[in-house]
Amino acid sequence: MRFGHFDDETREYVVTTPHTPAPWINYLGSERFFSLVSHLGGGYSFYRDARMRRLTRYRYNNVPGDVGGRYFFVHDAGDVWTPTWLPVKADLDHFETRHGLGYTRITGERGGLRVEQLHFVPLGEDAEVARVTVTNTSAATKTPTLISYVEFALWNAHDDQTNYQRNLSIAEVEVEQDGPHGSAVYHRTEYRERRNHYAVHAVNARAAGFDTDRDTFIGAYNGLGEAAVPRAGVSAGSIASGWYPIGSHSLTPTLAPGQSVTYTFVLGYLENPVDAKWADAAHQVVDKRGAHALLGRFATTEQTDAAFDALRAHWTGLLSTYAVTSTDPKLDRMVNVWNQYQCMVTFNMSRSASYFETGIGRGMGFRDSNQDLLGFVHLIPERARERILDIAATQLPDGSAYHQYQPLTKRGNDDVGSGFNDDPLWLIAGVAAYLKETGDVSILDEQVPFDNDDALADTVFEHLTRSFRFTVDHRGPHGLPLIGRADWNDCLNLNCFSTEPGESFQTTENQSGGVAESLFIAAQFVLYGEQYAQIAERRGLPDVAAAARAEVEAMRVAVLEHGWDGRWFLRAYDFFGHPVGTDADTEGKIWIEPQGFAVMAGIGVDEAGTSDSGTTTPSRAAVALDSVRELLATDHGMVLQAPAYTTYRIELGEVSTYPPGYKENGGIFCHNNPWVIIGETVLGRGERAFDYYRRITPAYREDISEVHRQEPYVYAQMIAGREAARHGEAKNSWLTGTAAWNFVAVSQHLLGVRPGWDGLVVDPQIGPDVPEFTIRRVIRGATYEIAVANSGAPGSRARLVVDGVPIEGNEVPYAAPGAVVRVTAVL
Ligand code: GLC
Ligand code: GLC
Repeated sequence: MRFGHFDDETREYVVTTPHTPAPWINYLGSERFFSLVSHLGGGYSFYRDARMRRLTRYRYNNVPGDVGGRYFFVHDAGDVWTPTWLPVKADLDHFETRHGLGYTRITGERGGLRVEQLHFVPLGEDAEVARVTVTNTSAATKTPTLISYVEFALWNAHDDQTNYQRNLSIAEVEVEQDGPHGSAVYHRTEYRERRNHYAVHAVNARAAGFDTDRDTFIGAYNGLGEAAVPRAGVSAGSIASGWYPIGSHSLTPTLAPGQSVTYTFVLGYLENPVDAKWADAAHQVVDKRGAHALLGRFATTEQTDAAFDALRAHWTGLLSTYAVTSTDPKLDRMVNVWNQYQCMVTFNMSRSASYFETGIGRGMGFRDSNQDLLGFVHLIPERARERILDIAATQLPDGSAYHQYQPLTKRGNDDVGSGFNDDPLWLIAGVAAYLKETGDVSILDEQVPFDNDDALADTVFEHLTRSFRFTVDHRGPHGLPLIGRADWNDCLNLNCFSTEPGESFQTTENQSGGVAESLFIAAQFVLYGEQYAQIAERRGLPDVAAAARAEVEAMRVAVLEHGWDGRWFLRAYDFFGHPVGTDADTEGKIWIEPQGFAVMAGIGVDEAGTSDSGTTTPSRAAVALDSVRELLATDHGMVLQAPAYTTYRIELGEVSTYPPGYKENGGIFCHNNPWVIIGETVLGRGERAFDYYRRITPAYREDISEVHRQEPYVYAQMIAGREAARHGEAKNSWLTGTAAWNFVAVSQHLLGVRPGWDGLVVDPQIGPDVPEFTIRRVIRGATYEIAVANSGAPGSRARLVVDGVPIEGNEVPYAAPGAVVRVTAVL
């Protein structure tokens, strides 16, 4: 069952009913000002940091759900309604939400009046703009009242939700009904003392009235759906003093039949220099010149429309770097639009603000942000570069990492734990992806601090060396990497035996045996250690490269000797040195992460042989992935391990705290499915790889939206696994490494076009279901037009013809900027 459809022409998802299983959201902004907006207008806005600079308020865990957003109430001759359906919930004659790239357009119609709200954050602005058009679709003249509403948060989102004894006395506003560009409400709580920023909610017309006090607007004991001012149809002119500040304007157009009126509303964030905050210091009046300038840029509908056009053109440009045309429209829309879009959002948000992440708990993750780069770097390489330098600056001198840093301060912290021993190696992954995309080796010479301390600065290459050395220097009894607090799987906590309710598995390390080892980090080291060696080689350091390769080889041998269980790779050795992820166990016999990652790293791949008796023996890589198919694959994707744990295993940590089938305990953790997908392409089994891809990819799941329940246009972190009562139900949509990894899997391995060191590799492995396709890839200034004729035969590899000339191998040498290179690939 569906609740809408894709519009591929406009690159929008069109939600056609308010009654989706859950709020289906979108993100506005991709620079400094961000908003979340649901298909019902819910959500909130912040400037750069969802915790430290929250502009508007949203209540997680609220009943009813998703109330709190930017709303426009209509009062039409006594009939009160909201075009977003919420919060009034009056039936609508027509409802439609179009989520596009950086904008959302919501249209509601009732009783002969249509309201269209177009929300976006203009490029270069620290503001959310709403272009609101009211149209009289009836046969009689109408005089409706349109009333806007936003509720201000008191800046620090955590304090805002907890510290009422202080906060309910501090709110302050200013109102300017006859401002230079219309009417404006200014939110200036704490501006008198240590803040030099304020917010504005304005409309580009002189409003008939305003409100700034929430309780006056809503009325005692009412919900927003019964709010008093919209019912009365007349603003009260309230001035907030403490309690709950809001911004609201009312407008009273007269509309002949068929006539429309359009307003631009702006919610903006402004900063003044600390020593120039006041227009009138004695009377403590905010200097509003910044706001006036902002509002002046959106004073007319033409200006607003021009900003919207610029935003759309911006996205057209971004998405022209990688585009496929195939016979499968679901594939095309995921690759060309939605997956890349989600990569941009995860790059911007990391894991901070979604409908599952409150924007209070987590900053930018070291591990997560590096992986996000893998799916983002081709979009805006300069921002990827800046991000790499920010991340590297939080690395500790011994090569280890703080697990996260705050975007506002860019300083690393221990709040969600540190000592995750996979963290350092992800920096190599991010830098290698950047180098292959851009060829910009100058980044390796950038001086970057360790631990944000300039006195400790060294080159980026030195940072990579310390990442590499960290694994080499932290190995356990089998020569495998020590796991520390956890590896990629946050919930495999082998040095934390927790019996305290509520104790964090991520910040508690109460065992220090130096024994628990990770096969995942081992495979990661083989993959990224080799990339480190390649970087060193290209830097003219053959000895460093050779020494690194010797370490990588030793690790490969250790994995094959101590990490093979018979039919798959082990997951770990625990605190006592017992294997985890072994057939000998009753539960958690096989885990997905080491299977996919080991094969991606090439471990056990080149071993297939024929015995004397003539029988063929498959490689361990093939055996491992066959076991994955047998034991982990479901119709909704591959589960993380099987069987899921049914009892609490104190020696494994958080993983077994989840009920069977959810999250890291037997859930379908979509982030690691692409590792198996890529692994299958390494083995030349494209048909299987593409089959797995379709099981988790949202556009292919759109028809079962009543089961999947989350947005059909973006990946979710998790889909409930086999043992769960709600098998197939997704959670944690949007902010997940699934976005980047699936884009890597589909664009670089299934469709097979990936940046190499010296050229663009063309190596499709997608099986017979996509017989022919073309890809346009722009990289290092040149454009590659690639036409693929694909038999899909297992194991076949493309033969390439470049500008009419057949070439050896599958790497098309990089051409000069401006060149157009035509490639045909036949397999
Ligand atoms: C979440 C975390 C990520 C971790 C994964 C598995 O997605 O953001 O860092 O690797 O869970 O535990
Ligand atoms: C990751 C995991 C989650 C775990 C959390 C702890 O996000 O996905 O299951 O609870 O880390 O911080």
